[in-house]
Amino acid sequence: MSTQPAPFRRVTIPSVMAAPAENRRLVMVTACDAPTGRAADAAGVDIVLVGDSLAMVALGHPDTLSITVDEMVHHTAAVTRGVRRALVVGDMPYLSYHTGWQDAVRNAGRFIREGRAQGVKLEGGRKRVDVIGALRDAEIPVMGHVGLTPQSAHVLGGYRVQGREAKCAEEVFADALALANAGVFCVVLEGIPGELASAITAELPVPTIGIGAGAGCDGQVLVFHDLAGWSGAGPSPRFVRRYAQLGQAAEAAIGDFAGDVRAGHYPGDEETYPTPEPLHRWLAARKPGRRRDRA
Ligand code: KIV
Repeated sequence: MSTQPAPFRRVTIPSVMAAPAENRRLVMVTACDAPTGRAADAAGVDIVLVGDSLAMVALGHPDTLSITVDEMVHHTAAVTRGVRRALVVGDMPYLSYHTGWQDAVRNAGRFIREGRAQGVKLEGGRKRVDVIGALRDAEIPVMGHVGLTPQSAHVLGGYRVQGREAKCAEEVFADALALANAGVFCVVLEGIPGELASAITAELPVPTIGIGAGAGCDGQVLVFHDLAGWSGAGPSPRFVRRYAQLGQAAEAAIGDFAGDVRAGHYPGDEETYPTPEPLHRWLAARKPGRRRDRA
């Protein structure tokens, strides 16, 4: 009988782009280390995004603006070591693509070469068209991201839902269309009213993946730490659904460990390497050194 693992088909850029026509809803989740990448892959997600939100949920920054290309590439490489099947996309951090297409290509290339990602994501619409063209010329697939773009939080006046008024909705629409025309393979729609996201999805020739954008997108993404209850205790945005309480479970586990150590219940015999008889005799024959007797 064969002991070969079951064959698996790697998720590719063309298979992501084909999803709407094949009536498949895309599932994307963030990850920032190998075990989370492995769990997402085992759960069968289509895309693992190494999002710059890891600056907040894993590194404790107040926003996404401080994280560097070095840090993002380091985390991307860790995630790709855990993923076999899903598509891995690295999120280009603030100022890694804003200073010209050469910088953008050099930085994006690091995600591909050192991080082993299959694509990169960047934020912004019409003003990113030239950079996206240069990345495509360098054979780097790009995922777009419009609506509430956290790297523009200062300009937007905070993390505010975008496109509530017709004028702003028109801007988000134009940005999404410009990205599609520039050749992105899909577009993240973040923090916009559901009906606007549905209207954009209906017109775009590439899939949309929503976060806080309602059910009418071609797929959905959540930050792993949010869906797993592994982020801070503060209030979550309206669109977050918690599927586990890993933070509470971790705190309880660490508390139980601390209790066992303090009570002398850890480690037990089963968690201790046995002492071979000759070593036991040698230890017994040794002159005892100074020691503190424990009660
Ligand atoms: O950084 C991130 O996690 C993201 C997703 C929210 C799309 O950009």
